[in-house]
Amino acid sequence: MKFQTVCIVVIVTIGFAAGHDNTTFPDGFLLGAATASYQIEGGWNADGKGVNIWDTLTHERSIYVEDKYNGDLADDSYNLYMEDVKHLKNMGAQLYRFSISWARILPEGHDYKINEAGIDYYNRLINALLDNGIEPIVTIYHWDLPQKLQDLGGWPNIVLATYNENYARVLFKNFGDRVKLWITFNEPRTFMAAYASDTGMAPSINTPGIGDYLTSRTVLTAHANIYRMYEREFKQQQKGKIGISLWNVWCEPISTNQVDACERYQQFHLGLRAHPIFSESGNYPSVPVKRVDHNSRAEGLTSSRLPKITPEEVNCRTGTYDFLGFNFYTSNLGKRGVTGGIPSKGRDTGAILSQDAEWPESASSWLRVVPWALRKQLNWIANAYGNPPIFVTENGYSDYGGLNDTSRVLYYSEYMKEMLKAIHIDGVNVFGYTAWSLLDNFEWLAGYTERFGVCDVDFDDPNRPRIPKESAKVLTEIFNTRKIPE
Ligand code: NOJ
Repeated sequence: MKFQTVCIVVIVTIGFAAGHDNTTFPDGFLLGAATASYQIEGGWNADGKGVNIWDTLTHERSIYVEDKYNGDLADDSYNLYMEDVKHLKNMGAQLYRFSISWARILPEGHDYKINEAGIDYYNRLINALLDNGIEPIVTIYHWDLPQKLQDLGGWPNIVLATYNENYARVLFKNFGDRVKLWITFNEPRTFMAAYASDTGMAPSINTPGIGDYLTSRTVLTAHANIYRMYEREFKQQQKGKIGISLWNVWCEPISTNQVDACERYQQFHLGLRAHPIFSESGNYPSVPVKRVDHNSRAEGLTSSRLPKITPEEVNCRTGTYDFLGFNFYTSNLGKRGVTGGIPSKGRDTGAILSQDAEWPESASSWLRVVPWALRKQLNWIANAYGNPPIFVTENGYSDYGGLNDTSRVLYYSEYMKEMLKAIHIDGVNVFGYTAWSLLDNFEWLAGYTERFGVCDVDFDDPNRPRIPKESAKVLTEIFNTRKIPE
């Protein structure tokens, strides 16, 4: 309470001083919407696509998915992509963030065998977007690992960094003449956890305390190698930009004497991935390093579960970004304490999390509406990493469906207002925003029960018709006027 009062005073003073209209987007700010391949494409075995770990999980262990469903057809964007382009165009979106299905391009994960039908599909999509004045922003990896690479052990195996780099090279060669914004990975933290528990996200393998940190090492190596490879082989000609999309749930100290617990949480949940790339040290933040080391000793291990970073790795990784992609949805309350459970899910952070019952709920248990947290989180990043260019690659709200989605309308307006305060008042360097999501889609373990789309999709109809919701209309107004309506 006290903190918020102080904040308001500061905001008003500086806001007037700068003389900005804090509900208007700056010139050049990019606005659009986002999706991901497995969540929308369908065509799971069409035209030579290989099997990926989500095909395997949903076909063999569908028990994990709430409605026991899968992405075999999803939104059928493999066939209906022109519909998606049409809706983006109608909304006045300047850009579309989508991901490429690795197994659609390289069915077996390696680049000895390229699936030309997959290349054709993304060429058609990219060309249709550009023909309609919409810029593509492409995620290279959004969780759908080719099964053949999982059979090698998946992300904990460092050899995947090489496969991933070779895959990225195929994308740059084929699409880099037209795609100028690339994201190497979407939310590494989420798929790291899939190697620390066998009860959820694909591949759902339990190697507690090892798989997640080894995954982190592979991902950081792969990201850095891709960035350097692009610099060496493509940048001069293609002039694109490369970032990585990280995510975090803000941690608001439950009281003023719990600030350290939340700071530690930020270092674990965001810092472990962000620090090696965005900080000057190029290494993991010291707080988690010490804590994981301490806990590893206490467990009788002979070395820390967190693999050491060599000086060569530090050199290679630090500064490998043109922008930081950031996915943001909600906040927690945090206080000191030991939660138990597996390391990547909280024990090591020493923070116990809860949410304020007053914060409005959504259809997702983890997502409550806390708009001011976005501003605080953006400021945290700007302070920690020297105010890097930030692209908010995801932000959105889930309900159970329906066209009259007033809660989502409110969510977008309020979160965007907070983002604009971070930009205009606090000087945070945010240059783009893509709403999650263009379409209702396969929400991973929630299947089709939680809806994030601004366009409704009827999953009972094999033709998968799309209808813009109220929120799509409001985004249309925002995208066209470049202002948040009153
Ligand atoms: C983050 C993920 O990137 C996306 O795939 C997911 O649907 C949204 N969060 C909502 O949970």
